Amino acid sequence: MKIMSIVGARPNFIKISPLVREIENRNIDHRLIHTGQHYDAEMSDFFINDLHLSDMEYLRIGSGTHGYQTGRMLMELEQVMMRDKPDVILVPGDTNTTLAGALAAVKLNIPIGHVEAGLRSFISTMPEEINRVLVDHCSNYLFCPTETAISNLKNEGFSDDKFFLVGDTMVEACLQNYIIAQEKSNILEKLGVRDGFILATVHRAENVDDKTSLQNIVDAFISIDERIVFPVHPRTLNRLKEFGLYDNLKDSGNVLVIEPLRYFDFLMLISKAKLILTDSGGIQKEAFLLGTLCVTLRDKTEWVETVDLGCNILVGSGVEKIIVGVEMMMNREFECGVNPFGDEKASERIVEVLAKEIS
Ligand code: UD1
Repeated sequence: MKIMSIVGARPNFIKISPLVREIENRNIDHRLIHTGQHYDAEMSDFFINDLHLSDMEYLRIGSGTHGYQTGRMLMELEQVMMRDKPDVILVPGDTNTTLAGALAAVKLNIPIGHVEAGLRSFISTMPEEINRVLVDHCSNYLFCPTETAISNLKNEGFSDDKFFLVGDTMVEACLQNYIIAQEKSNILEKLGVRDGFILATVHRAENVDDKTSLQNIVDAFISIDERIVFPVHPRTLNRLKEFGLYDNLKDSGNVLVIEPLRYFDFLMLISKAKLILTDSGGIQKEAFLLGTLCVTLRDKTEWVETVDLGCNILVGSGVEKIIVGVEMMMNREFECGVNPFGDEKASERIVEVLAKEIS
């Protein structure tokens, strides 16, 4: 069996890393392709190196509008697939790279395994929702992290033989790298923080590309009477500067504006923070796994389990709602019960399904 995995953006380096280990341990023929959707050292190289993914082919596509970026990836990935003739391709997550990989493969009649299938926010304008729906509908093997994902797929009419409840590869990535983080990371000393701080991230298009939403988020951050550590995504940095909000935030006194962090350092900060403030999907889950409460800057989440278990609340991007949500969660203890995202065996299950189905 020859497997080709396709990644390109920061969260997907994380999601694929345990799978790459599992595939390598079984001596299966594997090629890892990086489209170059993310290309800055902080967004790409550090993750590639720290997660031991450097044995890969780098396509250097870079940024652009959705159509341009996805189209260029499609052209390049088609060439790579025609050259290498994989038996199956693996695409994790919901990025433009995920969509381009699936489209290139389906047109060449190469079977597709979607890792993290079945997630839905039910917001049809969200770029990631468009990508994940399209990828699910052209995939052959839908590897679902949760029961919720399975029921979403059933509601869309998928037949039982297409989806597999395997758990979440991020559980493995997060917990295994957290062990390394405890040995390696000196980020607390570097930033001069100990505990009791809030760790914030914002990058979703609906929050940062709209001036009012971003202004609200900045106003809320500045009004919160707590230390906030804020590693800023490049998209967000561009918009903060474009909308004239950057200086205000940087000079606020309570918000520590820093560059995006390495995975080890970020996990260390999640575990030590009193609260997470984020619009990321993966970080809502990592907060849960590392025992930190979360306030999510969105109206809906794909990771509904974190909300149902009482360790995450959704506050959108209104100033008052953010401030009230933070106050409420700062006074709550983390008592969230069982982990609904599976054990650390998702990669093992995925590779076993592929070994059985493709020979
Ligand atoms: C992408 C994914 C999103 C994921 C996020 C994680 C899509 C549609 N979105 O969003 O699901 O959660 O990655 O980070 O695929 N930029 C840089 N350097 C980089 C990468 C990006 O400066 O290394 C800037 C560029 O100006 C670029 C912008 O960020 O235009 C947006 O990058 P892009 O990858 O298109 O989307 P993300 O917002 O990162």
